[in-house]
Amino acid sequence: MELLQVVFGVAMGALVVYQVLSKWNEVWYRIANQSLPLPPGTMGWPLIGESIPFWKRGPDFITAHQRRFGSMFKTHLFGSATVVCTDSDVNKYLLASESKGILLGYPGTFSEMLGKWSTFSLYGSEHKAMRGALISLISASVLKEQLLPKIDEFMKSYLSNWSDKTLDFQKKSNEVVMLLVLKLVASTEDNIALTKELEEAMHQVSLSFFTVAINLPGTTYNKGLKARRKLVQMLGKIIEERRASKCSRNNDILDSLLKNSEDSNSVIQTDEQIIDQIIGFVLSGYETASIVLMMAVKYLHDHPLAQDELRKENLEIRKGKPENYTLNWDDYKSMSFTRAVVLEALRMASIGLGFLRRTTVDTEIKGYVIPKGWTVFVSTVEINKDPDTYPEPLKFNPWRWLKSNLESYQYFMLFGGGARLCPGKELGILEISIFLHYLVTRYRWEEIGENKIVRFPRVEAPDGLYYRLRDC
Ligand code: HEM
Repeated sequence: MELLQVVFGVAMGALVVYQVLSKWNEVWYRIANQSLPLPPGTMGWPLIGESIPFWKRGPDFITAHQRRFGSMFKTHLFGSATVVCTDSDVNKYLLASESKGILLGYPGTFSEMLGKWSTFSLYGSEHKAMRGALISLISASVLKEQLLPKIDEFMKSYLSNWSDKTLDFQKKSNEVVMLLVLKLVASTEDNIALTKELEEAMHQVSLSFFTVAINLPGTTYNKGLKARRKLVQMLGKIIEERRASKCSRNNDILDSLLKNSEDSNSVIQTDEQIIDQIIGFVLSGYETASIVLMMAVKYLHDHPLAQDELRKENLEIRKGKPENYTLNWDDYKSMSFTRAVVLEALRMASIGLGFLRRTTVDTEIKGYVIPKGWTVFVSTVEINKDPDTYPEPLKFNPWRWLKSNLESYQYFMLFGGGARLCPGKELGILEISIFLHYLVTRYRWEEIGENKIVRFPRVEAPDGLYYRLRDC
């Protein structure tokens, strides 16, 4: 009897502790923001909030909470009180409101890894100037005259001799994007050892963007910091050599940056600024472009009709050209179905689920207030799968991009919006389109084993994404 009482007492105690802990955050934040009408929602346990269910369920977590609480709900993610917004109008407003105090909300590790001169670390006029400098490096005329010929040359050679090989496209997609961008930036391709070192260090830095900042030997953060220091050293040496040689004819991004730095009116003056621009250039489009490329290969494998259509368009472009042809700007501009495949893969993959912002003032939206200092999760999960914009949203259907003008649609958010709209959008689409051109005009690919894609936290196949290629 006594034992039963003890068990009962412990169970009741545990229940009370559980109830107190699970309501702790909600009560705490309600007291701290007493007079403010906070959005509805649950905030989970102290410190961890609802991070675990969010991490486990990703898009489903957002959808379930949206059904329960509406398109603006509060939660607590990764140590911060957060409001998730899934409403297109509100999201558009949030992305366009940097001047009203709604700033980038990525963890500090993000700008530590990218550097203090990265656009991700700058605001206001400094951001505008640095962003302008970056845009001038990838303007339409630079893409057309300088970058397209290099991308074409690289892809043509990278995608050769793949017949009868089994390749892991998860690895390949990372590799192709990284090697290509290193070529565009610093023309390192002839120095294999240096390229490998740069590739490894850049990859290590990219792994540290969202890591916990614990600087102990062996942690991802510690490895990221070391890799960044190594990059700074290596890039510094390349810059020194270029300056010493005086007559560099690489015609790459680094040459343009060095030339800019000689102009006293240019915003980029110091080596530190040049290095941060290079690291930002390589890493801002690394993960995004490689995931889209990998997912495009997978979706095309799973949808033979789309693959046939893509092949038809690209064989037509190849028709009448000499054997070792080069794609030109008009060819790229005529790849409408190819572009549609890239955009559809990007929409379906919903890479990052959304964008992070933080409030620097109490911000009133739709009758609610997001208190100063909270994180705002601008969720694109629902927008990218909205059946009114994208009928049958779960279907891979590149044709939808041909039939309507979705790319200029005001709620198009695949490349962000407002002052932070992706400046590398056209470069990213160009890289993937040229890759797809050489892939479909040369090969067909069949799946080896059962490839299970993990959609969240990162879109990746747990043990690789294997395809066997044969000539078509
Ligand atoms: C398919 C490929 C790509 C996708 C899906 C993509 C997506 C995005 C998105 C959604 C944002 C906005 C983030 C936010 O507002 O929080 C962004 C920003 C950015 N992207 Fe891309 N991106 C791609 C390729 C590239 C490439 C190739 C570059 C190389 C230059 C690049 C450079 C940047 C930079 C520098 C920013 C920050 C802009 C700023 O702070 O003003 N992106 N990208």
